[in-house]
Amino acid sequence: MSALFPQTEQLPTEFAEPLARAGDRLGPFVGQVLWYGEVPSTNDLAAAMAERGSPEGCVVIANAQSAGRGRQGRTWASPPGAGLYVSTVLRPLPHAVPLVTIAAGVAVAEGIQSATGLTPALKWPNDVYIGERKAAGVLAEAVASNVAAIVLGFGINVMPAAYPPDIAARATSIEGELGRPADRGLLLAECLVALASRYADLQSGRADAVTAAWRVRAASTLGRRVSWDAAGEARHGVADDIDEAGALIVRTETGPARIISGEVHWLT
Ligand code: BTN
Repeated sequence: MSALFPQTEQLPTEFAEPLARAGDRLGPFVGQVLWYGEVPSTNDLAAAMAERGSPEGCVVIANAQSAGRGRQGRTWASPPGAGLYVSTVLRPLPHAVPLVTIAAGVAVAEGIQSATGLTPALKWPNDVYIGERKAAGVLAEAVASNVAAIVLGFGINVMPAAYPPDIAARATSIEGELGRPADRGLLLAECLVALASRYADLQSGRADAVTAAWRVRAASTLGRRVSWDAAGEARHGVADDIDEAGALIVRTETGPARIISGEVHWLT
């Protein structure tokens, strides 16, 4: 067994039972969940599996990550047992690719809501907030040697943890918000069920349903002032909408600007 493919461990009952109850609602994710105690990053493991031809829907979940990654090259704090660290291999049809990351944010928010009753909001593109603090994030990465595959990773802060000082003030957890223990297995199952459903929307040409659901969850951020860096130039404007490819449309004094990727700062 190579270092990239550590031995899987038996899926704990905590996860196995809710996944079994979800059954066919898991769509492509049914019966394909691999559990690890600790890996560097579940995204790396899923990418390696995709490169070796693993089928769509293969799910990698770890109890801890030693090198968890966030968007924009950040670290994703992944202490043991304190969160959900999940990656899956998707092989979307070409028309579905641009909105996969938007759909994933919607799905994680919906999964959290189904499992807990909390009502998460979204900040473009797919940061999952409860109130003013971030509770979960999504990292979609193309598989280098295989343009047909995308690794979709999501991380959910389940328990309050000793997050690094730079993120502690802006982070929250599901249990911190609920004020009681959360069921990690149910969270996993409901997020995968929602992902299966939103992914099916994309694959079958129902992208409008995904963008409409995103707009509802992002309502409190649309209309807010934002700033961003465009090739070294500081720009600002008012966040207006997303387009059919998931780009953020910002109203500026010189007309609409289209942000495809990168960091957006929310000013008001
Ligand atoms: C973000 O910055 O908001 C995205 C965070 C994504 C974290 C998840 S945890 C599972 C998967 N493995 C990683 O290394 N990152 C993603």
